[in-house]
Amino acid sequence: MNHIRVDQINHSFQTVSGGDPILALKDVSFEIEQGEFVSLLGPSGCGKTTLLRIMHGLIKPTEGRTLVDGKTVTGPDPRRAMVFQDFGLLPWRTALHNIEMGLEFQGVNKEARRKTAAEMINVVGLEGFEKHYPHQLSGGMKQRVGLARALTMSPESFFMDEPFASLDAQMRELMQEELLRIWSQFKTTVVFVTHGIDEAIYLSDRIIVMSARPGRVKLEIKIPFPRPRHGVRATPEFAHLREELWEILKGEIQYGRMRETVGG
Ligand SMILES: Nc1ncnc2c1ncn2[C@@H]1O[C@H](COP(=O)(O)OP(=O)(O)O)[C@@H](O)[C@H]1O
Ligand SMILES: [Mg+2]
Repeated sequence: MNHIRVDQINHSFQTVSGGDPILALKDVSFEIEQGEFVSLLGPSGCGKTTLLRIMHGLIKPTEGRTLVDGKTVTGPDPRRAMVFQDFGLLPWRTALHNIEMGLEFQGVNKEARRKTAAEMINVVGLEGFEKHYPHQLSGGMKQRVGLARALTMSPESFFMDEPFASLDAQMRELMQEELLRIWSQFKTTVVFVTHGIDEAIYLSDRIIVMSARPGRVKLEIKIPFPRPRHGVRATPEFAHLREELWEILKGEIQYGRMRETVGG
């Protein structure tokens, strides 16, 4: 089981200057079913990263809690894999050794972790690049290493913070396909943070749209398109949904700007 419940989260950051704290998240509540692919979509600065880190257990919220299968999250857990935009690879380690890292921390012996890492190299399609260092890999390949490393932990869920944001458009689409393939193969839950509307629609079962800061749940949308979704981007229904979401997001971006200008 892996049911996630975000329960009444409020979060404030103290400012360095000692002024009023910044309210980043306000009354955030929602649920994610086991195996569901959910995107958190919202304008830059609305608190997506903060929320993802709270859900993962990296940050303790000022108020409220996250529950996984009814248990309050008190810290990170290897069953919840975090995948970062900047890949989080160690530059002095080869692809294979980066993939082994999590297992090494867990004290798994060398032979066993080599074997698992080699399997995951195949899963993400990096055969032949085992001995390459991160600087010898493209952005898409580095993200594959990050995914493979996460997979070695047999995670129940993936927490992904704009993982494809630094990739070019074609590589991003390839990695989206790759992620969907891995998701359906391993049946993990995915919490996917993005400010990309197309990406959120294409990938998700459901999108949780957040307001400008302080981030609140503005609305939740179930994505009606059956899978696999090849070709769905070109349909009028997709364009319509994209337009609808853009109107909402645009409103939030403008509202956020206005508040900044008037110092609200
Ligand atoms: N460590 C921190 N200290 C102070 N303020 C922070 C910190 N992290 C984030 N913030 C502020 O909280 C708000 C939400 O940030 P973030 O979660 O990074 O948004 P997003 O990921 O949606 O762009 C922003 O106004 C940001 O400046
Ligand atoms: Mg962010």
